[in-house]
Amino acid sequence: MHKTSEWLLSFSSNQKLNSRSLSLEDFRPCTKISITGGKGGVGKTSISLKAAQELAKSGHRTLLIDCDSNLSNTAIKLGLPLDNKFEKLLSAEASFEDVLIQQGNFHLLPACNGSISLFESKLNFAEIIIDIINSHEHEYDYILLDCPAGVSREALTLNAFCDYRWVVVTPDKSSITDSYSLIKLLHNRFGTKENHLIVNMFQTEKQMQKVVSTLGQTIENFIGIKTSFLGGVKKAEISADGFDTFFLSETNNEWQKNFVKLLYEFTEKNGGPMAARLQGTSLMAHEHDVH
Ligand SMILES: Nc1ncnc2c1ncn2[C@@H]1O[C@H](COP(=O)(O)OP(=O)(O)O)[C@@H](O)[C@H]1O
Ligand SMILES: [Mg+2]
Repeated sequence: MHKTSEWLLSFSSNQKLNSRSLSLEDFRPCTKISITGGKGGVGKTSISLKAAQELAKSGHRTLLIDCDSNLSNTAIKLGLPLDNKFEKLLSAEASFEDVLIQQGNFHLLPACNGSISLFESKLNFAEIIIDIINSHEHEYDYILLDCPAGVSREALTLNAFCDYRWVVVTPDKSSITDSYSLIKLLHNRFGTKENHLIVNMFQTEKQMQKVVSTLGQTIENFIGIKTSFLGGVKKAEISADGFDTFFLSETNNEWQKNFVKLLYEFTEKNGGPMAARLQGTSLMAHEHDVH
């Protein structure tokens, strides 16, 4: 997590913030997490949305930023209309608040879908996102980044910038290889040493453990860093679109309970704002359900 002193440093270089006065509330730490993995279709967006919604439900001001700049999927999964308003934010015709989708504590900043102007622009998307985070992190307890597939410089920069990286991996060989490549590049290029694995779409516990040990050991042997295991999300035998409705619904099914438990354990271990303020929240109630 970034210290207040580091936050202040970024603040002092940010002209937009200089114009407003600050209260003690502004110094609440914000935990920044990227949801990443290298490969597409492994569940990064579903997991980002679910995590952001659950953190918000438990009382935390949570912003999810869709970093898949021109193939933004978050709004689609929520059944919201696509409007490419993000283009207007880039051209300064709209403000952050104009583009933001707000549902209680859950805020979503969608990106674009097939925008020609974004495609043609020479803008550095990672820099834009980091500017947005620096300007608004004081408004949130958590900022989650739904990262694009691939290992572009921009994706790596966003991953390295965050306090935590949740690497979503499936039992597919290609997903395991892509996650390894991502972690290697992050380490070699940015010195990133800490990553958390989420195994998605596993079918048996044994299969999940195998992914964790194979990837964990390869990372330790060849990169020389340890990997934390956050938990798994079982493959649901359901049509692809059906999964999002099921996973993101309010119903307290097995997937929901297990995912909330995973979130709770992460926040407990990492002393984030959720751990500090968990008493009496809906997450606490879920936690009792699980045990
Ligand atoms: N555990 C799961 N079981 C079944 N389907 C899943 C699971 N996780 C994700 N999916 C489905 O897989 C597809 C790809 O997920 P998505 O989150 O869009 O991946 P990514 O963002 O990594 O490209 C979606 O249709 C999603 O609903
Ligand atoms: Mg996605």
